[in-house]
Amino acid sequence: MKDNFPNLTVLDHPLIADKVTQLRDKDTPHYQFRSLLNEVSQFLFYEASRDLPLENTSIETPLESISAPRIQKKVLLAPILRAGLGMVNSIAAVFPPVRVGMIGMYRDHDTLEPVDYYLRLPEDLSDKAVFLLDPMLATGGSAIDAVKKLKDHGAKKVIMIALICAPEGVSRLFETHPDTPVFTAALDRQLNEIGYILPGLGDAGDRYFGV
Ligand code: PRP
Ligand code: URA
Repeated sequence: MKDNFPNLTVLDHPLIADKVTQLRDKDTPHYQFRSLLNEVSQFLFYEASRDLPLENTSIETPLESISAPRIQKKVLLAPILRAGLGMVNSIAAVFPPVRVGMIGMYRDHDTLEPVDYYLRLPEDLSDKAVFLLDPMLATGGSAIDAVKKLKDHGAKKVIMIALICAPEGVSRLFETHPDTPVFTAALDRQLNEIGYILPGLGDAGDRYFGV
């Protein structure tokens, strides 16, 4: 099925598959869920950041002067609250200079449409590499809205990192924002009648925060 979505990268690795299974397991307690989401997010960012541009800078090793590559571009992480917050710390651990914006929205239980409650982004994102973080891409409503907000702030390209995706949401996101690639650990089967991903893992925010 993933062949239908050329802009979708599903990370295919035994370490990730094993962790996703533990995340799906309803008996995994919130404190283990937290560690697991952090660990998988780091792997996903590793792959999603592969095209970050490098620039040569002059440094001195203890033995000689060389010109060597560094990441110069400013990187912005934009988690969708709440559950996207669970992906920030482990990414910041591998690349400490990241800046973090916040997109506060929740999905209305009846309409499944996103409802905004908070937004804190830098004024101008045009010079930044922007990574949108949310563990769940279900109907796609939240992601579509969030990408629009980031573009409205000048983002030239938004890369989405999602732990688990539903095909319905991926399809909708790519229809609206074909220039936003998605990196995920799993492309699941479908949505159920109330917009939850099957087999999924349930409510990511509840499972991460324990409430
Ligand atoms: C979840 C998830 C996404 C959204 C995905 O958040 O973290 O933001 O649902 O659904 P969609 O693709 O159908 O829009 P939720 O609304 O449950 O908010 P929460 O993280 O604050 O619990
Ligand atoms: N949001 C979640 O947290 N889980 C789903 O399965 C769908 C939306």
